Amino acid sequence: MLIRDLKDTPEGLEELTSLAYYGRLRFTVNLLPLLERTAKTNYPDEPSNRRPRVFSVLNGGNERALPFVPEDLQSEKSYTMLNHVAHTTLMNTLALEHLAHKKPSVDFVHESPGKVQTEIVASFLQSPERTRSRLVLWRWLKGMLMLVLQAVLLPVFYVVAMPLAESGERRLYEATVDLSQQWQKQLQSPPHNGIVAAPGFYRMKHTSDIVMDDTVLQAYRALGMPERAWEHTMAVFRSVLDKGSGKK
Ligand SMILES: NC(=O)c1ccc[n+]([C@@H]2O[C@H](COP(=O)([O-])OP(=O)(O)OC[C@H]3O[C@@H](n4cnc5c(N)ncnc54)[C@H](OP(=O)(O)O)[C@@H]3O)[C@@H](O)[C@H]2O)c1
Repeated sequence: MLIRDLKDTPEGLEELTSLAYYGRLRFTVNLLPLLERTAKTNYPDEPSNRRPRVFSVLNGGNERALPFVPEDLQSEKSYTMLNHVAHTTLMNTLALEHLAHKKPSVDFVHESPGKVQTEIVASFLQSPERTRSRLVLWRWLKGMLMLVLQAVLLPVFYVVAMPLAESGERRLYEATVDLSQQWQKQLQSPPHNGIVAAPGFYRMKHTSDIVMDDTVLQAYRALGMPERAWEHTMAVFRSVLDKGSGKK
């Protein structure tokens, strides 16, 4: 996902949030009937690599506690670039966990690719948003800072980041591996913090390990947040569809 200007989509959603969250979940909702139908044609005791799977590459496993989330599910009052990443990470996890409960015949994965050698950092640093200001001097200073960061950060990023081809191979492996078997295997090898999440929902690291620690998520589950996140998402979809059909 390219980091571009902060702006709204024609539907009135903040664009980056729409790309990182609402769009992904809309694809998922639209495809679920087909996925469920595929599942029904499989034998019930199929291993998980033969079951339909929704595989979302964003930032699974890196959820952190966000005090504003229960009240401001759209992050309207708390929007910063750092909050955007944490907010869409958490929302994807809550929504997919909820769907895993609702749709037991489909598996859901929220994956974190780690650092990958794409244009992501360059496009973030080169975005006009980074240097926007009404003051000419401040705009110039920000422009200079971005140039320095590009000269210093970009080479470091490309050294530490995973090559694109390796990332592709790993994501393909994760999208097809028998997750329930891997889950069972990892359960046998303590230590674990917290209670592991619902079967059928997995958060995965760039190393292709399932994230077992869900300490951060426990507080959100106690507040019913997976369900509330989903209700909020469906309400946003309804409002977008109403706008599209001319209803208010
Ligand atoms: N690379 C990393 O280190 C890293 C780390 C953690 C998570 N991720 C996540 O992995 C995902 C892919 O990232 P990436 O590194 O592959 O990014 P990327 O190389 O910058 O690719 C961005 C993709 O998103 C599309 N896109 C951007 N803005 C769009 C818009 N407004 N509408 C429709 N499509 C748009 C681009 O289409 P065009 O080519 O047409 O512009 C391109 O296909 C992102 O969700 C990112 O947050 C990446």
